[in-house]
Amino acid sequence: MKVTIKDIAREANLSLSAVSRVLNNKPCRVSEEKKELIRSIAKKYNYTANQIARSLVTKKTNTFGLILPDIENIFFSSFAKRLEANCRQHGYALIITNTDDKYSEDQEMIDLLLARDVDGLFLIVSTESYQYVEPMIERLSKLEIPYVMVDRVYPEFDCNKVFFDHEKGAYLAVKHLIENGHRRIGCIANKLSTLNRDYRLDGYMKAMREYGCEIQDEYIVEGDYRIQSGYQAADKLLQTDISAFFVCNDMMTLGVFRKLYEGGYLIPEDYSIVSYDNTIAPFLSDIKLTSIEQNVAELGDTAFEVLFAQMENEELPAKDICLLPKLIVNESVQPIADEHK
Ligand code: RIB
Repeated sequence: MKVTIKDIAREANLSLSAVSRVLNNKPCRVSEEKKELIRSIAKKYNYTANQIARSLVTKKTNTFGLILPDIENIFFSSFAKRLEANCRQHGYALIITNTDDKYSEDQEMIDLLLARDVDGLFLIVSTESYQYVEPMIERLSKLEIPYVMVDRVYPEFDCNKVFFDHEKGAYLAVKHLIENGHRRIGCIANKLSTLNRDYRLDGYMKAMREYGCEIQDEYIVEGDYRIQSGYQAADKLLQTDISAFFVCNDMMTLGVFRKLYEGGYLIPEDYSIVSYDNTIAPFLSDIKLTSIEQNVAELGDTAFEVLFAQMENEELPAKDICLLPKLIVNESVQPIADEHK
């Protein structure tokens, strides 16, 4: 006979919700002695984690959690806005949290959202969490609620994932510059040893090699996806012989703009630029920026659909969905300027 949580509660002479909270390691006012009693009864009947998850007596909260690395970055805030609209349409609230790209904050926000009994979780890990893949995978593996890794994923980890093909996006960007005659192309990438950086750098390298363009070490500069790092990276690249910039996100491109403006350079007359995310065009007056679009509506809708399907049927196998980025051609690239030839 399959033991139920009611059997455990009866034997322990405790309430269903107390037993459920203890077995799910949720905060509760139960003495350590009673917690031990509950766990020993569950162990005696070999009561598995899956049964615990299914027999959750705590009501659904109709709330999802979202963990973002940088809520001030328009890519993430636009994604959050789309996701929140999806949640609301289905009667769910969305608790949005920000980690400032820190691993410790990723862990803390998971704690915070679980303590609030969210029914599901959307996670865009911090850049730093690529240094802590093992502990993050261990933590995620123990979650008893459905979750989706979005945009930044652990490829080797079997879980729900929805992301864009970062290598493809970078390849399209650099190919566009090369097709306009640029061969000495600087690349401003994210921090070293973060996966999305590696994928985008792979795309840059693939295009450069495919067209026989020489890749100088000085052409590749590290940023951190924030404005100031773009400014500093541009300062370094202006000391090289590049004729064009490939910048791996729009926030760093804003820093590049400031540096080029200070130097009296014109875009695209003096330098061509292709950026990434396609999020800042509406805010630019004099530059019509060519950028790689990661459609946040598609990302938000797909991530929501995956999580909602998992809510409906926990036995569903994990989905691994790779979406295609698009090159949005505008006017920040022109054939190579004479002085760069
Ligand atoms: O601008 C933020 C970048 O980091 C985006 O390109 C997105 O892919 C995120 O991972």
